[in-house]
Order: sequence, then structure tokens, then C-alpha cells
Amino acid sequence: TEREYTLHVNGTPRTVVASGQDLLVDVLHEQLDLTGTKLSCGIGSCGACKVVAQKTPGSPKMAMLACYARMDSIEGLHFTTVEGLSGPGEALHPLQREFLECYSFQCGFSTPGFLMAADVLMDQLARRPIPAAQLDQRIRQAISGNVCRCTGYVKYAEAIKKAIL
Ligand code: FES
Repeated sequence: TEREYTLHVNGTPRTVVASGQDLLVDVLHEQLDLTGTKLSCGIGSCGACKVVAQKTPGSPKMAMLACYARMDSIEGLHFTTVEGLSGPGEALHPLQREFLECYSFQCGFSTPGFLMAADVLMDQLARRPIPAAQLDQRIRQAISGNVCRCTGYVKYAEAIKKAIL
């Protein structure tokens, strides 16, 4: 059965019509025209579809796999997709800037998922700083659920570190 759901996406409440089984990634693509979130494996293994979810704006950020998130389990949450990292006409987000500077991506398909994983890490570190010596390990951990078929992990990690420091 379809009904209306309200999702907060990139700071704006959006009303969509979906069934409870529908997946967030499909709703983003087909109803909200937000195609930056990629669908690759579709079974929760690759991280291409990762978005940021928060209970309320300003609450801790969580990474969420949009290929796995059913509408009946996500109502009321606040989402940031890659389109929301910096709005039209705004300066690039520091992560986006460093991804460019470090030539981090090749085909680019996995990039939105890496950006969102890194955005969650930045939020965690802002709330609870860690010694610099632990940073490399935390970055590796943060992107451990993201697959890059061009195997560009080193450049992604380098860019994330530069954005954080
Ligand atoms: Fe969602 Fe791969 S497309 S984890």
C-alpha cells in the first residue's frame, strides 16, 4: 500500500508517495531527482549508496545504506546526500575540495559513498577528538565498508586526512 511519507533531505522537508517496502535509494532517484547517491551492489556490501542520516539536525551523524533502508523504517529522519554537502553556488565542502586536489577518484562511481562515510567520520571526530596517531586507522575503519573497483583507497584516505587536519 502506498502512502505519503515526509523525509527531510538536504535541509528541506520532502513529501513522497511510497510503499513501506520501497527503498530510499529508489525514492531519491525517482521522486526527488537526487541521482548522486549510487546504486551498485544493491545488497548492502559496497557503500556506493551511503547517505548520512540524523535523528534531528545537529544530532550525531550516522551512515546509512540507501539500498537497504526501507521507507517504513526511516520516516522522520534527516538525510544528507552528496548533493547536500555543499549547495548550488556554495564553496565546495572541504572533503570535496581535497578529493579533487588529491586526484582521489578515477571512474567516480564510488565517490559519493566515500564522501558520505568521511562526512560521518568528521562529525564523530568533531564530537570526540582523537590523537593524531590514531587518525589513519580511524580513516581506514570509516571507509572499510566502501568498495572502489578502481582500487583508489590510498588517495581517498589521503584526501580525507587532509580535510580533517
Ligand atoms: Fe548499497 Fe552497494 S548499493 S551497499
